[in-house]
Amino acid sequence: MSEQEPSDDIYLDHAATTPCDPRVFNAMRPYFSERFGNPSSIYRLGQEARAAIDTARAQASRVLGCDPAEIIWTSGATEADNLAIKGVLAAAMTRFAHPHLITIGIEHHAVLHAAEHMRLLGAEVTLVPVGPDGIVRVADIIAAVRPETVMVSVMLANNECGAIQPVAEIARAMRNRGVLVHTDAVQATGSLPINVNDLGVDLLVASAHKCYGPKGAGLLYARSGIAMDVVMDGGGQESGRRGGTENVPGIVGCGMAIEQAELLRERYVRHCSEMRDALLSEILTRLPDVELNGPPLGPLRLPNNLNISIPGVQGETIVLAMDLEGVAISAGSACTTGRTEPSHVLLAMGMSDERARSSIRMTVGRGTTRPMVTAVAERLARCVVRVRELGG
Ligand SMILES: Cc1ncc(COP(=O)(O)O)c(C=O)c1O
Repeated sequence: MSEQEPSDDIYLDHAATTPCDPRVFNAMRPYFSERFGNPSSIYRLGQEARAAIDTARAQASRVLGCDPAEIIWTSGATEADNLAIKGVLAAAMTRFAHPHLITIGIEHHAVLHAAEHMRLLGAEVTLVPVGPDGIVRVADIIAAVRPETVMVSVMLANNECGAIQPVAEIARAMRNRGVLVHTDAVQATGSLPINVNDLGVDLLVASAHKCYGPKGAGLLYARSGIAMDVVMDGGGQESGRRGGTENVPGIVGCGMAIEQAELLRERYVRHCSEMRDALLSEILTRLPDVELNGPPLGPLRLPNNLNISIPGVQGETIVLAMDLEGVAISAGSACTTGRTEPSHVLLAMGMSDERARSSIRMTVGRGTTRPMVTAVAERLARCVVRVRELGG
């Protein structure tokens, strides 16, 4: 885990994206230049690219514990979530006039907006509430099942509050009910096991840039035999399930990043929890009134995630003040069309508007060091004092 002087800029937004691992980048590089062939071409240059895709497929399938043919490469998790939800519900429309999807209000918009799209086309969608800790109760999912329920979509871990969902339990409960289970494992990759058989899921999504791979590459695991319509029609790539010339360097990077993330997982979890726990404790020493959002630090929370509310200040103001201090973090609110909207995740957890607006998220990573943690806590305390003096 690399060293970085605390006087340098400090990046604590690893849930937004991660730097590309140099080993991953080096593996990708030839596929931009000398090995630039189209994998559909039958001559050697094309077949070299095809072989690289197959290698990446084997790497990812070993981590997922699936057949390589069950992996569909996509342009990232957004596309993979869209394919899972739209593809499965559209295919189910031959069986049901109004196929039913169960999901939770704290999903990423890639899931929520795809679900809404399908609702407008005739599907029915139930949003099961989560508790104040951001975790859904399995009994509430079971209670939402109807005869027309086709799929449950519950993320393995949440990107904002770090809550880990009981996906394996949900999958066990759905198996004899004939309901498919889809999980967005984007934030869990490298932190939790993502073996699809141990989880018991039928569809799983991962994204390379959240685990030290490149942006614009991800995958959908779809258990063999699942009825799923094609969303991206085209030249029949990915066995006809996703058209479009493959992003060969991205796929090479995705396979390798997922493999590396799994190899490093235990060490990464230990390192991140240590840094994250120290960060909270250093912050609490300086700012005793901050409140932790999401599950307590421990097994129900991603090891790299810290989400806190700081009474009396706006999260976005702190993000900008911290940027001036050289620290990159994110807020539990986002500016859309000129207005600051509190996070849908924190609101769905039952948080007040005010507390959601005063939240910030800090996510540590492989390169986070103990001196950085102290520097961030010091700079945060300085920013909060300054912002409070200016009236929040
Ligand atoms: C949980 C979750 N799902 C999906 C996505 C979208 O991933 P991508 O950037 O690969 O489209 C993200 C990215 O923030 C995420 O955190």
